[in-house]
Amino acid sequence: MTQNLLEVRNLTTGFHTERGFVKATDRVSLAIQEGQTLCIVGESGSGKSVTSLAIMRLIDYAGGFIESGEVLFKGDNLAAKKQTDMMRIRGSKMSMIFQDPMSALNPVFSVGDQIAETLRIHKHMSDKAAWNKAVEMLRLVGIPSPEIRARQYPHEMSGGMCQRVVIAMALACDPELLIADEPTTALDVTVQAQILDLLAKLKRELNTSILLITHDMGVAAEIADRIAVMYAGAIVEEGAVDEVFEQPRHPYTIGLLRSIPGIEGERGGELYTIKGSIPSINELPSGCRFHPRCPHVMERCLREEPPLMADERGHRAACWLDEVPKEGA
Ligand SMILES: Nc1ncnc2c1ncn2[C@@H]1O[C@H](COP(=O)(O)OP(=O)(O)OP(=O)(O)O)[C@@H](O)[C@H]1O
Ligand SMILES: [Mg+2]
Repeated sequence: MTQNLLEVRNLTTGFHTERGFVKATDRVSLAIQEGQTLCIVGESGSGKSVTSLAIMRLIDYAGGFIESGEVLFKGDNLAAKKQTDMMRIRGSKMSMIFQDPMSALNPVFSVGDQIAETLRIHKHMSDKAAWNKAVEMLRLVGIPSPEIRARQYPHEMSGGMCQRVVIAMALACDPELLIADEPTTALDVTVQAQILDLLAKLKRELNTSILLITHDMGVAAEIADRIAVMYAGAIVEEGAVDEVFEQPRHPYTIGLLRSIPGIEGERGGELYTIKGSIPSINELPSGCRFHPRCPHVMERCLREEPPLMADERGHRAACWLDEVPKEGA
């Protein structure tokens, strides 16, 4: 069996706030094998970003913490590491791309200098070697005339170009895991598609494992090997991308898929929306967290929380419907 590069087990996280402790993720478990891409999808507030911040241990800086669970990176538990150790891991073994490229770039240094700086720090390269590698990275991410562009400052570039620079910076030290949190939402649609194509190309060429966060099922379909669907702080379904798309098992996933324009919407004319809204993880309903919005709700769903149940192919879903014969699910 291929070893998991990343394995998250029962990760529960939260924040200390004025109102006391608030939970943000609830026993999240997921795994990524070498060279694989896992997409986390789900509505706003479902815990996608907090999961990724916890994996990188950046949650500590956002005022949050890991309450329980493990983050095994090549078998090593990052949840128990000191920040000084995490600083060595972040940027070299795993790196992250955020939604807004401008916030990741420093306006007072040229983009080439910023990439070179990471290489000097993590790879102890000489100034010249780091600069040459920075130019090479800009070429790799499809920036034309990289020797000239490397001397430019972020404000001299478009949003899409800046996101390419951020990707070049994230990949410069050859990380084994790249985490991208909604890397295209701040960009316009054509540029979004180019950035996704770039990620898919880099994944093939560099064999980097990717954790991609998006609320867009269409994006996930294009790039993922596996998909995890989050709802109110928990994973409710997870499996290989074709299985989740062709045989979704959780009514929430079925709802999400039906709400993509062009899949069901095109035929039916009207776009499907899931009734109701996502509950706060701190005021969850009894039993199944999805039951107030579920079209198939049963008596048992109000009483008992369904655990993630795996089928023989490792496709997991947290729904009692799978235990009884389905009718039109
Ligand atoms: N700094 C914080 N302090 C308190 N609560 C927070 C903080 N950051 C996130 N949360 C809470 O954690 C939960 C999960 O938020 P998260 O940002 O992970 O959602 P998300 O799935 O990434 O949503 P989006 O699609 O909008 O980015 C939410 O209930 C949110 O209010
Ligand atoms: Mg987010």
